[in-house]
Amino acid sequence: MKFLVISTSMSSTSRSRVLAQSAYERLPEAHQSGWLDLQTEGLPLCDGGPAADDRVDRLRREISGSDGILITFGIYNYLAPAATKNALEWAGRAAFEGKVVAFAAVGGGPGSLPSVASLTTPMLLDFGAVVCPKFIYTTGASFADDVLVDPDVQGRLDEFVATWTTLTQRVRAGDHHA
Ligand SMILES: Cc1cc2nc3c(=O)[nH]c(=O)nc-3n(C[C@H](O)[C@H](O)[C@H](O)COP(=O)(O)O)c2cc1C
Repeated sequence: MKFLVISTSMSSTSRSRVLAQSAYERLPEAHQSGWLDLQTEGLPLCDGGPAADDRVDRLRREISGSDGILITFGIYNYLAPAATKNALEWAGRAAFEGKVVAFAAVGGGPGSLPSVASLTTPMLLDFGAVVCPKFIYTTGASFADDVLVDPDVQGRLDEFVATWTTLTQRVRAGDHHA
């Protein structure tokens, strides 16, 4: 199995990137793992065209070659940010179909938790991915000096990564009761 973590924040001091790194560190060693940071990838904006672009090719290749994909983001105006959506527009349905996709988000406050649905709905209903039923939502209060310090979120992240990776293995093995 291959597990890919995609950090989609454009912020150089991103908290959701710290969350992504914390999840990446928890990936089971027995499997392959991949890391993609959209801040350094610098994807162009999706124009719906054919995308003759190495960065877009790499994004598609990484997602297509993975079984489970974790997408992390910060909440901007009660939605996933434009950069997150841009990556999904470029990647397209074919890269995600049949994969197990999980989400982890950081907001400024607790009230934006339902914003995660802005990605789960198209992923499930249009892209044909299996969406991990657990997700992480937390706020800046869980971090100090670029470190995830909140023991509650650390514990939830342990469970979240275990659920996502186990579900991925079962779904990709064709277990229809997963
Ligand atoms: C333009 C902008 C809009 C934001 N809108 C929201 C929002 O609607 N709800 C919320 O909880 N936090 C909001 N925030 C706070 C961010 O979610 C928070 O700073 C988070 O850490 C951003 O993720 P990042 O650090 O990974 O970039 C907003 C921040 C910015 C800069």
